Amino acid sequence: MTSAKRKLALLGANGMLATAIKKLAPINCQIQSYDLPDFDITNRTQVLALQDSVPDIILNCAAYTNVDGCETQHELAMQVNGEGPGLLAQLASAIDAVLVHVSTDFVFSGDKREPYHEEDPTGPLSVYGQSKFLGEQRIIESGLKKYFIVRTSWLYGLGGSNFVETMIRLAKERTELKVVDDQRGTPTWTDDLAEAIFTLLTLVDAPHASPLTPPSPYGLYHFSNEGACSWYQFAAEIIAQASKSESLKVENILPIPTEEYPLPAHRPKYSVLSKEKYKVATGMQVPEWRESLRKYFGDRTHRV
Ligand SMILES: NC(=O)c1ccc[n+]([C@@H]2O[C@H](COP(=O)([O-])OP(=O)(O)OC[C@H]3O[C@@H](n4cnc5c(N)ncnc54)[C@H](OP(=O)(O)O)[C@@H]3O)[C@@H](O)[C@H]2O)c1
Repeated sequence: MTSAKRKLALLGANGMLATAIKKLAPINCQIQSYDLPDFDITNRTQVLALQDSVPDIILNCAAYTNVDGCETQHELAMQVNGEGPGLLAQLASAIDAVLVHVSTDFVFSGDKREPYHEEDPTGPLSVYGQSKFLGEQRIIESGLKKYFIVRTSWLYGLGGSNFVETMIRLAKERTELKVVDDQRGTPTWTDDLAEAIFTLLTLVDAPHASPLTPPSPYGLYHFSNEGACSWYQFAAEIIAQASKSESLKVENILPIPTEEYPLPAHRPKYSVLSKEKYKVATGMQVPEWRESLRKYFGDRTHRV
């Protein structure tokens, strides 16, 4: 972003990704926070009333993120994750703002065995994935030009419940952990995703940041950390890193197939995202997932 002050309306402002956005926002970015119970992205009147504060950027971190809960809360999931982003696109069009929306690797079926590109066919296996895909479609079909949809995966960070914190808690309670080893993806630190979102926003002001940057920087991007692992490998790394600073009870971590840990929502077996488009557009490198996990532990140690 340029040095001019920018107003950024942050929706879902109390959530995990939004916590990193607030921490890492550039100095010229003035954040206005909105979240339940005062603000609901499915409430048309409330959304359109944001016009009065004239944000330059609308950043949507609001979502119904309980993946298994979505299976029984179909209507709520479709409203929050699907129709809500459509309303935000209408708002952005009305005031000529940039909309940044966050989506998920769960829009894919997981049939591939090499990283998913932005243009790969989708095939969500769960209601959550379907509802997030609907959100993408609502934005694209709205006709809004100035949007970034950023698909990400396996998020963890400060300010939210996540797999890293769950593994640490369980490792303090139990001697043995069984973790699914046949779903592969990439963990993503919310701080890295927040930095990536602000980097994408710089393209709005400097469309020729890289010689390979296309004329319009807007559109769909994938961003996760670099590399890939199974949930079991992620858990093993979490325990290895956590044991350096925490007293843990766990002695064994066992790999299991998905069938041994059945959940209501089906997950893709493979959902690694290709970051090529992001890297070419921004000229930036993407941190490797273990390296980012170490930084998260460094950050976390100062706070817990
Ligand atoms: N977490 C992951 O592993 C992951 C992976 C891929 C993509 N994503 C996507 O990344 C984004 C951020 O995820 P996150 O993990 O930071 O989510 P989060 O921690 O669950 O935060 C979501 C926030 O949105 C709020 N919210 C829910 N419904 C709302 C509504 N109708 N109106 C306004 N606010 C509402 C939530 O409030 P309540 O807490 O009160 O419900 C919460 O504060 C989401 O779009 C998510 O789909 C997440």
